[in-house]
Formats: sequence, structure tokens, C-alpha cells
Amino acid sequence: MSGDLEIRVSGRSVTTRVVIGGGEADRAETWLAPLAPSACVVVSERNVLAVLGDRVGQALKSAGRSCETYAFAEGEASKSGATITALHEFFSHVGLDRRGVVIAFGGGVVSDVAGFAAATWMRGVRHVNVPTTLEGMIDASIGGKTGINLPTGKNLVGAFHHPVLVVMDPQCLGSLPPRDLRAGLAESVKHAVVFDEAFVTWHEANAGKILALDPPVTEALLRRNAEIKSGVVAADPYEETGVRALLNFGHTIGHAIESASGYGLRHGECVALGMAAACRISVEQSGLAPTEAERIVRLIRLLELPSTLGASVAKAGCVEVDAVMARLASDKKVVQGRARFVLLERIGKACLAEGVSRADVREAVEGVLGV
Ligand SMILES: NC(=O)c1ccc[n+]([C@@H]2O[C@H](COP(=O)([O-])OP(=O)(O)OC[C@H]3O[C@@H](n4cnc5c(N)ncnc54)[C@H](O)[C@@H]3O)[C@@H](O)[C@H]2O)c1
Ligand SMILES: [Zn+2]
Repeated sequence: MSGDLEIRVSGRSVTTRVVIGGGEADRAETWLAPLAPSACVVVSERNVLAVLGDRVGQALKSAGRSCETYAFAEGEASKSGATITALHEFFSHVGLDRRGVVIAFGGGVVSDVAGFAAATWMRGVRHVNVPTTLEGMIDASIGGKTGINLPTGKNLVGAFHHPVLVVMDPQCLGSLPPRDLRAGLAESVKHAVVFDEAFVTWHEANAGKILALDPPVTEALLRRNAEIKSGVVAADPYEETGVRALLNFGHTIGHAIESASGYGLRHGECVALGMAAACRISVEQSGLAPTEAERIVRLIRLLELPSTLGASVAKAGCVEVDAVMARLASDKKVVQGRARFVLLERIGKACLAEGVSRADVREAVEGVLGV
């Protein structure tokens, strides 16, 4: 077992253990046994099971453990109350009691849904995340945010429920479409530029191997990201002190572009555009050196992510500046027409800025949309 780290979530006595290593999905009994569960349920979605097989469920069954697998339809539409109800009925059917464990095997959709079902079943049972996407490994699986969508907005219903264990098996990433792999890398760029300049240099030196999923490089990538995210989460486990807000770098404009594109662009692609825009604003407002902003944009491109859309692509994707600005105005982080942004003072040092004017934001949005 390589890469074994712990996040101590203070206050509510939860410790998340993170295990990283090739083949870990097939060694489920090894990491589940110490939790001594009375019963366990694997929660997944149909596409993940079709592509990867029920590796975790099979591993547990071959070890003689009774374990049931529940799979819902793939996609964001499954992050719904209907899926949660169906899961609770399944938990009831298989007799999952308070000492039972829910294992999420899939991308961010699966960990959000399974985590919320675990948080609300019998007022909270333990859950384990086994992420199968890069977005899931770098971001969604650590931090305890779980939830579902409403027709009026994403992630509106949810709970903080920290997983007891996160198991990352880089071998699961081999089947990921390249576009999804690159999109997940945007979160790694975010962690690096906000928290760790040396990690930026590491990305620059290893970009080719990162994109090729070279095994030692992938493991190092996952490990450093888990360290950074868990450090931030441990400092602010329930998003109360503002430290976690720094993880929103690139996300305010990114979310607005994502929504304006009708979700036609990947989340990570929009975050890359949002980071490029935030860099432009940072040069104006928080003293980021233009050479550092250029370095970040170069890294985004090196990892084959967009730093601008280009007017024709923006039009084809129906991403209009006015639509992005309208979404920003309705963002809950925008107070009285002035957005609250995570900006960079330099690579590795971010700050929260309240006074960014609409005109500056518009200029940055126009810049990344290529208008
Ligand atoms: N809770 C959090 O902190 C947090 C953080 C980031 C994102 N999220 C949520 O995560 C979701 C996005 O996550 P995602 O990008 O993983 O999306 P996803 O879970 O929908 O997975 C994307 C696609 O990849 C497929 N897939 C999964 N694993 C695969 C594999 N190994 N090989 C091939 N295909 C595979 C899935 O079937 C799906 O079609 C959003 O709902 C977002 O809100 C939550
Ligand atoms: Zn994100």
C-alpha cells in the first residue's frame, strides 16, 4: 500500500484516511476489514460498472464478505431526491444498520449522492469513497461535501459528511476519456497555483507524463493533491473560517461560464478559463506580476486546457459575455453588484477580494471568451 495519509477533522472526531495505490480497488477487503462493518453496500452508476466492472464488490465477495451493489443511471440528473429515496429503500431492504458502511465507487456524482445517502441514513452511517475520475480523486472525494441538485440549482441540498476512508486506485483512470482527464487536471493546477509554487514547477516539468498517466507521476500527482486538499479541509472542515474559500480560485467566473454554456463545456475547462480570468484581475487588483500570470496561462495550455475560448468557439458553445455577466450577478457570492473573488498576490499566495468592479470582471471575461 503506497501513500497513506490522514486528515484529522477536528471538532466532530472524524478522521479521513487516504490510501493511494495501483490495484487498491481490487484489494477492498484489506482496507474495509479494519472498519469492521456490520454490512456494506457499494453504490455506483451503470456506466462505471460497465467500464470498470464491479471491482470493489467482487473483491469483497471473493473475500467471503456479503456485500450488495446498487447502480443508478450515470449523469448529473441522478443527483436527485429520487435517487436518494431509492438508495434508502435499498439500504432498508438489505438491512444496513448504524454500523454498516456505504462505499461510493465512481466519479463526483456517485460520491456526492452516496455520501448524502450515508449522511442521512439512520442519521449518518460511515462511508468510503473510491473515486474513479480525476475530478473525483483530486477534488470531490475529500472534504465531506455531499449533496444533490434541485431543478433551481446545483448542490442546493446537502450535508457535510466526511468519509472515513478514501481509496484512490490510479489504474481506474486508464479508461477515462482524454477530455475528462484533462478537465480534472484543472483542479490540480488550482491547488498548485493557490498553495504551492513548487508543485507548479513540478507540473511544468512533468506535463507530458501527467497527460500520459505515467504510473509513478500519476501517484505523485494524486498524493500531493490529497495532501493540499486535506490540509485545507483539516484547517476548515465545515467551511466556517474562510480558509476553504481559497479553493474557489477560478470557480466564480468558471461556474458562470459553465452555466452560460448550458453545461456544454466540462467543469474543468470552465475552471481553466475562470483561472485565466482571475489571473487578469489579479494583475490589476492584487499585485500579481504579469510574468506570473503568463506562467499560469502557459501551464493551463501545457496541460491542454483552454485559457481562452476564441470568439467563434464561444459563439458555437453559446457562451455570450452578457450571459456570463448575468449569471455572475445572481451568484450568491456577489454582494451588492461587487463580486467576492479569490485573487493571487503571487503564485502560492491567494487572497479574498471584495471590491472587484463589474467593469474589471467584464474585461476579464471578454478576454477569456476572446471577444
Ligand atoms: N463534493 C465535492 O466537493 C465536489 C467537488 C467537485 C465536484 N463535485 C461534483 O462532482 C460531479 C462531477 O464529477 P465527475 O467529473 O467525476 O463526473 P461524473 O461522476 O458524472 O463522471 C463523469 C463521467 O465519467 C464516467 N466515468 C467515471 N469513471 C470512469 C472511468 N474510470 N472510466 C471511464 N469513464 C468513467 C462517468 O460514467 C460519467 O459519464 C459534479 O456533480 C460536481 O458537482 C463535488
Ligand atoms: Zn471545481
